[in-house]
Amino acid sequence: MNRGKFYITTPIYYVNARPHIGHAYTTMAADIVARHHRLKGDDVFFLTGTDEHGQNIQRTAEEHGMPEKQYCDMIAEEFKRLWKKLNISNDYFVRTTDERHIKAAQKFFEAVYRSGDIYKGRYEGWYCSRCERFYLEKELQGGKCPIHDMPVEWVKEENYFFALSKYRDRLLRHIEENPDFIQPESRRNEVLSVLREGLEDISISRSTVRWGIPLPIDPSQTMYVWMDALCNYISAIGYGDDPETFRKYWPADLHLIGKEIIRFHVIIWPALLMSAGLPLPERIFAHGWLTKDGKKLSKSTGNVIDIDELADRFGVDPVRYFFMREFSFGKDGDYTDSAFITRYNADLANDLGNLVNRTVNLARRFFQSVPPNDHPGEHDEEIIEMAIETHRRSSKQLDDLAFDEALETIWQFIRRLNKYVQQTEAWRLAQNEDTKGRAGTIIYNCLEGLRFISVMIYPFMPESALRIREQIGLKGLDEDYSSLESWGALKPGTPLGKPEPIFPRIKVEKAKKTKKQPKREELITIDDFRKLDLRVAEVLEAEKVEGTDKLLRLVVNIGHEKRQIVAGIAEYYSPQELIGMKIIMVANLEPATIRGIESQGMILAAVGKRGCAVATVDREVPTGTRVR
Ligand code: MSP
Repeated sequence: MNRGKFYITTPIYYVNARPHIGHAYTTMAADIVARHHRLKGDDVFFLTGTDEHGQNIQRTAEEHGMPEKQYCDMIAEEFKRLWKKLNISNDYFVRTTDERHIKAAQKFFEAVYRSGDIYKGRYEGWYCSRCERFYLEKELQGGKCPIHDMPVEWVKEENYFFALSKYRDRLLRHIEENPDFIQPESRRNEVLSVLREGLEDISISRSTVRWGIPLPIDPSQTMYVWMDALCNYISAIGYGDDPETFRKYWPADLHLIGKEIIRFHVIIWPALLMSAGLPLPERIFAHGWLTKDGKKLSKSTGNVIDIDELADRFGVDPVRYFFMREFSFGKDGDYTDSAFITRYNADLANDLGNLVNRTVNLARRFFQSVPPNDHPGEHDEEIIEMAIETHRRSSKQLDDLAFDEALETIWQFIRRLNKYVQQTEAWRLAQNEDTKGRAGTIIYNCLEGLRFISVMIYPFMPESALRIREQIGLKGLDEDYSSLESWGALKPGTPLGKPEPIFPRIKVEKAKKTKKQPKREELITIDDFRKLDLRVAEVLEAEKVEGTDKLLRLVVNIGHEKRQIVAGIAEYYSPQELIGMKIIMVANLEPATIRGIESQGMILAAVGKRGCAVATVDREVPTGTRVR
């Protein structure tokens, strides 16, 4: 790794749809890594952006009745808006329709061309326009794209090819000699076996797609959208126009991607770079895919995780926390609402929220400001050592992109501090003049522990980290990881901020109960019920109401009188089967005129999606008997 600088990228996302949780997952992870490296003191360049050319975007813009560029502008803005909301600290946002990018991509193409690796040929094959890639017959699933489960199309055209096969041996050697080049290990093994099977040359231009970058060697063709897109990683740092910045940041230290686009990043991209004579990225990490309730995310089936809504309801930081804590980054992860709420309440509201709240409250109540730290005692050494060790371990785990493990390490420390307050009974010691000094030191250690925690969680939850710092008397974040190498930076006497809950508990039980049970004012009293005059009535006559399929006109006997009723049960009962039946009716309902017929009551029936059953009595009772 090039020490001192850190260049990290996300994939650039297609603008054929609005940003969703999948995009946010990668981008949040990249943001955490970028912030982590800034705290390490590295000169970070964090890149994200949008992939705007190609057949699919061209079609989508047409479907929206918009010129391509205008359509791309609209969606690119959506991505920028969401990244701002999620506190993404990218240094640059690249768009493949930027003039700067177009020039750099053409320059790169020419470099590959000059190496003699581009030739003209004919291509025939199955193409998925969503993936923007060709598939071999054997790769399809039931004749459809294995990623999108959508029909593929047969494409047959003359275009330019890149001599990918020529680079197979060099690629194999590079991957074998650089164990960290592809991560996680399981993906690396998959790629190695693909390479061992052999490589075919690939088509890198399209003659039928207008919405793309014209080839510098033949403007009648546009550049294959993946070659165009991969160039973003160099165009954004000045490959075309700023050699100084380019030299400073290239090669990338980390390309973060989803597992489905690994082949483009670890085979095609490195081979193109080799051909153009550029160094290869240091490391490519392919993370797993998110699902919800065990099913693939899909707008068409409505199985979506609405990231905007989650962030609005629970806050941006809990969302950033959850997705990093709950899943192991290299593996697939299944989202459920209940897992979100459980984690939020246990880790954020309980563990961290309580620690901040009780510590700051104790300090303010008994000492007004950060207390003196001059009464060492039992457990203190262990706490101090653990703080320093927690930073060391979690930082290393973050280097390895083991976000969940890093957070678990930090949370062990948070839980330990809560236990420390509990076992020393600091609140009791504080109330007695003889032991108040010792209470001061315990509270000091908790506050200093919170300073450590605020720096360690900053990459994950920047807003909350700053709020914690404010409460423990610190302003902003004017320190980096070097301040976690020793204990005691927090100065006694520092005025404390206002204690405010950072993560208010989500009240699940209450929320559920109010949904299931009617509210008090919706319950009726026994007197309300008694107002109903329910009677057993015998059906004397029944006939269809003319001009409708649903209504029957009934004449019933309620003991002392006859009533006419219009009932919507014609789809379920024939008039004949009702005659002679003893049913239950509401006898004191205000009459209503339905289809010109006065209905003098209402019969009771169970009506559901699967049918209808009229309420009757299960043994003989005189007609007119009251039902109560
Ligand atoms: N434009 C290409 C990438 C070009 S990079 C030179 C592309 N775009 S995309 O819009 O389809 O985004 C794909 C990426 O979004 C994945 O690699 C992954 O980072 C993220 N995700 C999309 N859906 C996802 C999940 N369901 N789960 C996790 N991340 C996924 O491919």
